[in-house]
Amino acid sequence: MKNLLTVTDLSRKEVEEILNIAGRFKEERGEGIRNTNILAGKSILLYFEKPSTRTRVSLEVAILELGGHPIMVRKEELQLVRGESIADTARVLSKYVDAIIARVYKHEFLEELAKYSTIPVINALSDLYHPLQAIADVFTIKEYFGRLKGVRVAFIGDGGSNVAHSLILISALLGLDITVACPEKYSPGSTVLKKALLLAEKSGAEIKVVDDPVQAVKDADVVYTDVFVSMGFEREREERLKIFLPKYQVNRNLLKNARRRIVFMHCLPAHRGEEVASEVLDDETISLVFRQAENRLHTAKAVLAHIFGVRI
Ligand code: CP
Ligand code: NVA
Repeated sequence: MKNLLTVTDLSRKEVEEILNIAGRFKEERGEGIRNTNILAGKSILLYFEKPSTRTRVSLEVAILELGGHPIMVRKEELQLVRGESIADTARVLSKYVDAIIARVYKHEFLEELAKYSTIPVINALSDLYHPLQAIADVFTIKEYFGRLKGVRVAFIGDGGSNVAHSLILISALLGLDITVACPEKYSPGSTVLKKALLLAEKSGAEIKVVDDPVQAVKDADVVYTDVFVSMGFEREREERLKIFLPKYQVNRNLLKNARRRIVFMHCLPAHRGEEVASEVLDDETISLVFRQAENRLHTAKAVLAHIFGVRI
């Protein structure tokens, strides 16, 4: 049984397989072929503690297009909010559905859920990781550049965000070079960095953390950012904006420092005027954000096919 709580639950080979399958799903959908019976007879629970546009809808459509049955529940609908334990919830749900996909505040919640479930558990975003986003991101990079190895990514902003963590880990796994430019207080977690450096020894990836966004952008092919205030951190909003702005905003002025032609990426939703200026986000000559968002669907289908061990 496979869980996907973080991208390093997958091997490099498995991620590469998922990217290939996603490519085939995308091609087929382009030709109007949508429905398969890969998940026929399977029910999948979507449990969401936080809002979501892309993750929730792409997963629900992915499950339907693969012939499965999605069941969406919000946190307040389960007995968990009245004190039922995660362990008991996991044991019960395992008798009904074939997988649980969950978006949660605390990553430990997912670990506990996975510990007591006898079915796969997939992370749809936690405070620590966003693996489904990272898989769509590298799919998008590969689609655009035709390769992954040696592509140089600059992540600007909150180096401790779930999106940054998963991007660092997947880069380390697949051999992309990544420089994170962030204030020291918002550096990537030490466990993530340690793991990334270990993986990088094998893949040849270069992982750097710097303070200066100009330095990161200089040699980049991809400039990536995420919100300064992630879900669950709203109380820190004022303090964070004071530290991040104006230095870490991705705008035309910052991008002038790039020595190569860059593309811009963002997981979305964006806070225009905070981590990114509209002039960059809306510049169709460099912005891949809507392609990234579309690719969430194709890659979600590929992840599900992989989790259920379907050979395509
Ligand atoms: N990128 C992403 O996960 O978006 P949602 O919060 O809309 O799901
Ligand atoms: N870091 C952001 C990502 C949203 C998709 C958050 O957690 O709010």
